[in-house]
Amino acid sequence: MSSRTTRRRLIAAMAASSMLSLMDNVRAVSTDNDLPSLRSRAERRGLFFGCGVSAHAIQADPQFRAAVIADCSEIVPTAEMKWGWIESRQGHEVFSDADVLVDFSTQSKLKIRGHTAIWHQNLPNWVPMVLKDQNGAATFERHIRNVLGHFGDRIASWDVVNEAIWPQDRLPEGLRNSIFQQVFGPKYIERAYEIARAVLPKTPLFYNEFGVEYNDRFHAEKRAATLQLLTRLKRRGLIDGFGIQSHLHVGWGFDAKLFQQFLSDAADLELKILLTEFDVNDANAPADFSVRDAAIADHARRYLDVALGEKAVKGLIVWGLSDRYTWLNAPPYARPDGLPNRGQPLDQNLQRKVLWHAIASSLDAAPVRNQ
Ligand code: G3I
Repeated sequence: MSSRTTRRRLIAAMAASSMLSLMDNVRAVSTDNDLPSLRSRAERRGLFFGCGVSAHAIQADPQFRAAVIADCSEIVPTAEMKWGWIESRQGHEVFSDADVLVDFSTQSKLKIRGHTAIWHQNLPNWVPMVLKDQNGAATFERHIRNVLGHFGDRIASWDVVNEAIWPQDRLPEGLRNSIFQQVFGPKYIERAYEIARAVLPKTPLFYNEFGVEYNDRFHAEKRAATLQLLTRLKRRGLIDGFGIQSHLHVGWGFDAKLFQQFLSDAADLELKILLTEFDVNDANAPADFSVRDAAIADHARRYLDVALGEKAVKGLIVWGLSDRYTWLNAPPYARPDGLPNRGQPLDQNLQRKVLWHAIASSLDAAPVRNQ
């Protein structure tokens, strides 16, 4: 065995030993490929495991492509289906990058999610001005119809509206003061789902949100406002699911009972729940890789044991799969010491980290779902 492999296994063993004191019944860290994949572990429990990917990574990185196929049964474009990507020039819609990912999913027998039709970020520069003119509603509707219509039933489920809640804007029902809210009022949300339902009557429609995971006042306000919105949309038959982005932060206060109650309240609305963008921000964790990896894995495990313990949760999607493709190395989320984030299950070399094994253990421990 090469000294490099020995060293890697030694570090992995050290990581495991330092983590074992933090977590019970964790599988000893191994880089062997004979372990059951995250995909197979999830499917055994009636769940699915997937990841967010970019067209660039899928086209330019064959090893990463193989890692996606090995561990995932579903993918989601991290950018290519957004308004800013598709129609940077008004009236000139370009779907080619998104089509790369849809075609990859078909060829690889993976499902693919749609993300996201209406979001206050990543909008083309021309949109705010055009929405404000008398034809704004037609532009809004055209965008949703064209994007959802282009992909049709090749999309397993859609995040029609993303991140519409922001209590800090102090608007009724905690809604975000986005350009959509300013121009159309709160009704833009229902309108978006009405249009989506008309275009794709059989496709599950989701509302996707972040900042509902922790036990501080900000998260409590977001949870309350999000449940209020979900109730309103569900009552009108406009949504089928709720996406909890699950962007975790080592060191933030997580209250298992509080979060479990939130999941139960969402499940009581008869919504499917997905963990849609899971990753771990490790800016508060020590620089040392083995200590940091153990802290990340422990934090993730505590969250996932609660989340996957709720049977309404049907899937876990990580936002990049490998540290090679995390969004967390850019400001304002990058670590102060400039070291790269380690919040994905595979490291920069696509090797399984302690976090991979923590996810595997949480999947193995999850109650079996009937689909
Ligand atoms: O790949 C191109 C590159 O060729 C080009 O030179 C460069 C020039 O700007 O852009 C590169 O594309 C970037 C793309 O990420 C890479 O995948 C886009 O600029 C950049 O805007 C895009 O950012 C994405 C961001 O959403 C905005 O769409 C991030 O990857 C993605 O992780 C992030 O994801 C969001 C979710 O949709 C919603 N929840 C929060 C989450 C994190 O912000």
